Amino acid sequence: SKPLKVALLGAGVVGSQVARIILNEQDTLEQRIGRRLELVGIGVRNLDVPREGIDPALLTTDLEGLVSRGDLDVVVELIGGIEPAHALVQTAIEHGASVVTANKALLADELGPLSRAAQEKGVDLYYEAAVAGAIPIIRPLRESLVGDEITEVMGIVNGTTNYILDKMVTDHLSFDEALAEAQALGYAEADPTADVEGHDAAAKAAILAGLAFHTEVTRDEVFCEGITGITEAEIAAADQLGCTVKLLATAKLTSDAGSVIVKVHPAMVSRKHPLAAVSGARNAIFVNSREAGELMFVGAGAGGAPTASAVMGDVVTVARNRRRGTAGHVGAAYTHRPVAPIGESTAQF
Ligand code: HSE
Repeated sequence: SKPLKVALLGAGVVGSQVARIILNEQDTLEQRIGRRLELVGIGVRNLDVPREGIDPALLTTDLEGLVSRGDLDVVVELIGGIEPAHALVQTAIEHGASVVTANKALLADELGPLSRAAQEKGVDLYYEAAVAGAIPIIRPLRESLVGDEITEVMGIVNGTTNYILDKMVTDHLSFDEALAEAQALGYAEADPTADVEGHDAAAKAAILAGLAFHTEVTRDEVFCEGITGITEAEIAAADQLGCTVKLLATAKLTSDAGSVIVKVHPAMVSRKHPLAAVSGARNAIFVNSREAGELMFVGAGAGGAPTASAVMGDVVTVARNRRRGTAGHVGAAYTHRPVAPIGESTAQF
């Protein structure tokens, strides 16, 4: 049978790792999928960057042309940001390709419309890597727990800020020193404002809240307070109380279940709570549900290879669906639930 055609957009920290796995693990992937995967093109901004192990003939700067070929089975979008990623994903769907993306910023604004576009075309839209890197959390919310009623989602979903807070608490580094270390380790966004002001976490909170409560939440609806205002004195005070300080993303329903409350803010977390032990750049998501009770998902929330693991899980899944002709069957109608307005932070836990 013919191979399934895959196009990759972006060959940066994550994209280069995804390309490596697709090119080096051909036989294994074929066994898992039941069809061979053929990487037909990689869209990049700059052809002159040396890229080890990648045939230069695969590279193109014409990303729009690549996603409009019309014969693609899967488009993997790893360029990030809203445009041109949004237009490229839309074009890919219109041309009948299933899409795998790690683009939290795009999904935090456009998950609803893109999901509907994918369903209308009968293609898949998968995005496990968009929230908390390697940690499986999208599928648990979208599939494993879909027969249960989630009551609360609470997580550490930004590695940079967790690293900074951890260093401030345990090594008594200043905010600036800790941020410089996080940047040197490659965890931070290109503009670390998105990390330290909580916007990156807010994008992920919007995606998690929408999935957990079967509704649509966009990033601008998420109450958001970052960690730039936290002083060493506040950290010391939390320590005295047996607490650590974490940037938490939380989502829960109002008591009448009519609206969703979604927030990102620094919080004192008791050292006895499992989230307090999540150190360094790791992420963790704590989920409470009516039938399953408490669950916690923890692991690497960023980085090339860990994030590529989540992307490849999606690639194999959507490729299997293409092979079986069952793409586009995940998802259901949304229950519209407004997001409750929040005046000020309730920064305690
Ligand atoms: N800047 C993000 C973080 C990368 O620090 O968690 C992963 O989305």
